[in-house]
Formats: sequence, structure tokens, C-alpha cells
Amino acid sequence: MIQTQSFSINQPTKILFGADSVKQLSDLVAELGGSRVFLVADPGLKHAGIISHVSAILDTAKIPYTLYDKVTPEPGLKLADQGLKLAKKNKANCVVGVGGGSALDIAKAISILLTNDGKAEDYLGLGKIKLKGVPKIMIPTTAGTGAEVTFTAVFVNEKTNSKGGMNGDPLYPDAAILDPKLTLSLPSHVTAATGIDAFTHALEAFVSTQAHAISDMYALEAIDLISNNLRLAYANPANLEARSAMLLGSLLGGKALATAGVGLVHAMAYPLGGMFNTAHGLANAVLLPYVVEYNIIGCPDKYAAIAQIMGYETEGLPLREAAQLAVEAIHQLNADVGIPNSLGALNIPTDRIPEMARIALTVTRPVENNPRKPTEEDVIAVYEAAFNGSF
Ligand SMILES: [Fe+2]
Repeated sequence: MIQTQSFSINQPTKILFGADSVKQLSDLVAELGGSRVFLVADPGLKHAGIISHVSAILDTAKIPYTLYDKVTPEPGLKLADQGLKLAKKNKANCVVGVGGGSALDIAKAISILLTNDGKAEDYLGLGKIKLKGVPKIMIPTTAGTGAEVTFTAVFVNEKTNSKGGMNGDPLYPDAAILDPKLTLSLPSHVTAATGIDAFTHALEAFVSTQAHAISDMYALEAIDLISNNLRLAYANPANLEARSAMLLGSLLGGKALATAGVGLVHAMAYPLGGMFNTAHGLANAVLLPYVVEYNIIGCPDKYAAIAQIMGYETEGLPLREAAQLAVEAIHQLNADVGIPNSLGALNIPTDRIPEMARIALTVTRPVENNPRKPTEEDVIAVYEAAFNGSF
């Protein structure tokens, strides 16, 4: 395939990957010039002992920290503003985020709010952040959002009940620590939803109109890692090898999306999060096979390649048939890890579909990246298919 796409890449995040790599946190804080840490952590990690494990590393190194664990799924802007107040009061000069995408997004936002004036709402959109934030280190405990290597932080705007992202280079974390041991306690249903989210990042980046040689490299490797390991991690949460592969796949999916973007699945999942608080990963996972089915005619060769990576025999098949196998492969992956095959299972009322479709089309960048340009009627048809369980 000839690559004609122009691209520019700025992926400045230092990456530490491996079992027990979290032990290097204190050295990393010092290396980045931090001396007072603001620790943003998902409260769900308490019972797994992860917060105490991370804070003990700071304690041992005598690095003072303030714990902020008011993280919720699909966080509102006010969580970033409240955290900012506490971080300022404690004179934090380094932010560490521990958890899933919500914790990392709040941590990223607080880092830039500490150096830029104003409130979180002021920075929704692209390129509004002027100054680099205080050093920020991300420690993902799901595999996952890839938020540890992206320049985006997504929030629910409580005023409009819609989701919105801050986007800009200052949001790139200075460092990410990926320790697969921290993902061992993830419950299976979270492993499934976050794993398919990571898979969706890789898939949507691969078929994106912005895809290029380097994003393809990340995306294809991520598709391979995730599709071959998600079932193993779901079936046996203690499988460290599968957890490592998933965390690496999630990281590579994040690196792919950071440069090639995501597509219609993410645009259509946005209103589900904003209007009904549906978890991001789950919304994407349910929508994914229906969007792929709709998209197929936009780049059948790429979907055929995905089917092949996912273990389907495509040789000798007409291109369209080979591409169609990707839909089957994704339905099977979803079914194997307990993802419902219909939006009906998420308690979303069908009479809100037209409103959902309108909102999805306002998520402009993912819609533009999509390999097939959707009309409002198209988006309605895809939502309806995702309700009915078939096109
Ligand atoms: Fe996502």
C-alpha cells in the first residue's frame, strides 16, 4: 500500500514498562524536578491495595504527597477544578495519576491548570492550553485508554450534559509507568470493556483517513496483541503474561490514536457517556461491530487485514468477503468476553436515537477521520442496528 498521508508526530512521553516498574516512581519524580506530589487516584483501587502500594513508594523516598481520590467514571469538569484547589493549597509541583482513563484525565487537566489560569471549562477544545503543565506521570491500571500517551483529557460538561475534550501538546504526560502487576486485580468485566476500548483505538487509528506508516505499525501490533490476549486475561485475571501483552497493546493503541485519531465508534459513544453515563469502554465495545459493518466499503482491504490478524483465513476470498470476516471476528471476541451484543442491554431508550445521532456528528475530528463519511440518517441506522443486534 502506498502511503500518501502527510503526518507529524510529537510523542514526548518517556515510557517505563515492566513488572514492578512502579518502584521507579520516586526516582522519576525527582528526575522531573518534582518535590511535592499531587496523587490523583481511582478510589476503586483502595481495596486492591494499589493506592497504598504507590504511596508507600513516595513515603520511602520521603516525597510528600496529597491524595485526591474523588475520581468517578465519566468525570465532570468540577472534579478537575476541585482537585486544582487542593493541589494549589498543598503547593504541588508534580502530578501523578493512578487508575483508569478518568483518573489519568483528571491528573492531566490538573497539571496544566496549575500553570495556566482559569477553570477546566476554559480549556475544552483544541489548542487552547498555552503553557506546559507541572511534570505529570501517568500510571494506568487498566488496559485501557492509552491516556498515558495521549494529548487529550475528556470530561462531562455538567452545564450541557455533553462530553468534551481538552486537546493540546501540553497535555502529553512527561512519563508513563506501565506495570502489568497493577492490572492483575481488574475484575473481568472491566478487563473486557477496557480491553475492547483499547482494541477500538487501534482499529479506528488503522482505518483512519489520517493513518500513516508509523501509526499503522503501532495499530497493527496492538490489534494482534489485544485480539490474542484479551480472552486469556478475561478467563484468568492472574495471567501476568496476558496482562503484560494487554497493557502493551493498550499503550500501542494509545500511540496510534495520538497521531491518527479515532473514528465513528468514539463519536457515537460520546452521547452515550454524556446523556446516560454509560462507561466509555462498554459503549465503544457494543457499537464497534456495527460501525465496522457500516464502514467496510470505505476500506475493505484494511478490514480484511484485521480479519487475518484476528485468526481468520482470508486467502483466496473475494476482498469484500474477507473484510466481512472482521465483523464476525469482533462479534465473537465481544461474545467471548461477555460484552452484550445490543445497546438495549445498556438501558438506553430508543426514542433518544435522533438526539444521539445529532450529538455524535458534532464530535467533528473522529467523524472526519472515519473512512466512510456518515450522514445523520447513516448514524441513526447504525444506532438502530446496534439496538436490534443486526443491520
Ligand atoms: Fe476510547
